[in-house]
Amino acid sequence: MTVRAETRATFLRQGGRVALRRVAASDQEEFVGLVEASRALHRPWIVVPRTPEEFRTYLSRFDQTLAEGFVICLPRSGAIVGFVNVNEIVRHPYQRGIIGYGAFASTVGLGYMTEGVSLLLDYGFKNLGLHRIEADIQPGNTASLNLVRRLKFHREGFSRGFICIDGKWMDHERWAITSDILAAQPPRSCSSSE
Ligand SMILES: CC(C)(COP(=O)(O)OP(=O)(O)OC[C@H]1O[C@@H](n2cnc3c(N)ncnc32)[C@H](O)[C@@H]1OP(=O)(O)O)[C@@H](O)C(=O)NCCC(=O)NCCS
Repeated sequence: MTVRAETRATFLRQGGRVALRRVAASDQEEFVGLVEASRALHRPWIVVPRTPEEFRTYLSRFDQTLAEGFVICLPRSGAIVGFVNVNEIVRHPYQRGIIGYGAFASTVGLGYMTEGVSLLLDYGFKNLGLHRIEADIQPGNTASLNLVRRLKFHREGFSRGFICIDGKWMDHERWAITSDILAAQPPRSCSSSE
């Protein structure tokens, strides 16, 4: 299957292996299906929409003022391989947002998320006008910690009982990257084995 020209036109960034575009109402069936197949991967780290109704509520959060929602997809087929959101956007004088992201079971561990989140960083700093992008990560979430380390986020601290996930207040490490740090990095190769 080759992606249609209209879909390609919605790509905000395209890297060596993945593309970034805004999540849309038409993604509902594919997204909810991927979430259903990825329950073991996502638990206990994140809460994601599992039903069409939850997906509609999820979409309604992305008002493009306080929050922005994206999917990471394969440019040739258009298949969704992950998602990344920028939440709690605060404008001047902070210009910052907090990202949430997830892979799906069928394509986890292939490097797609590191490339997809790096596309988001580029878009967030250059197009959304952000200066700082943060990620809050549970200490035991090795895959997520590896991802932000690969992208040169720095660890800023630790907050006990910081986010309520599935009814429990969970501790989180606080990570962040600023636009000047990203600008100082060479472009990231998708075939890196770091
Ligand atoms: C966190 C999460 C998104 C990371 O996904 P991921 O698939 O490991 O990330 P990537 O797509 O960047 O893949 C990186 C892995 O692919 C491997 N890889 C394989 N082929 C690769 C290639 N061609 N290029 C780059 N990396 C490759 C890397 O070695 C790396 O594995 P490692 O971390 O064991 O070294 C995923 O584990 C997830 O969805 N977890 C549940 C939700 C969650 O925790 N979200 C974050 C909350 S803070």
